[in-house]
Amino acid sequence: MKLVFATSNKGKLREAQEILGEGFELLTPTDLGIDSDIPETGDTLAENSAQKARFVYERCGLDCFADDTGLEVDGLNGAPGVHTARYASEVAERDGLAPVASHDFAANIRTLLREISLHPGASRKARFRTSVTLILSGKEYSFDGTMEGRIADSEAGCGGFGYDPVFIADEYPDRTVAEIPEETKNSISHRGKALRAMAEFLKK
Ligand code: IMP
Repeated sequence: MKLVFATSNKGKLREAQEILGEGFELLTPTDLGIDSDIPETGDTLAENSAQKARFVYERCGLDCFADDTGLEVDGLNGAPGVHTARYASEVAERDGLAPVASHDFAANIRTLLREISLHPGASRKARFRTSVTLILSGKEYSFDGTMEGRIADSEAGCGGFGYDPVFIADEYPDRTVAEIPEETKNSISHRGKALRAMAEFLKK
């Protein structure tokens, strides 16, 4: 089955293809000549994933899906949450620091570790949440997944993407997600759970 995945993130695309398997052929907006930035201005992950999926569906009319992911840290009252992708740039703006590009992975990780260190003793318990919106023949369906864990004291590993070098999943408590094989991450991850639920739905 052909599906458009509304993302330009190569890490997400690789994981989604691995999770969904050979029965699904994933295309990206770039493959279809859609080069404009996909907006994500909602107040929730579900709103953002629906916004991204609709943006692509309106331009190509093909069955498609999008995901939006947030990292919630208990000791930061659930931040960065829906602001996860632009955490460093929003904190820099808040604190009057030099501007940072949104989606700057390294700056996001530095900001997260700095913000936690400002709250000594605060809980490092955290989770990734993913909301997936599928648009199939014009109808919308949603699927969710979470991965529980905690924020490491420092970065380790070079696998995965985004915040993986500072996230320790409950299932593998002695290393970060960036230090476990990608298929192991996919078997426990927020994205793995949401996309497997979507695949089950599509198979029915
Ligand atoms: P978005 O869903 O593309 O808006 O992603 C939100 C933020 O979470 C971005 O900074 C991503 O790098 C990060 N992110 C999304 N999925 C993962 C993941 O599986 N591991 C680590 N970071 C992720």
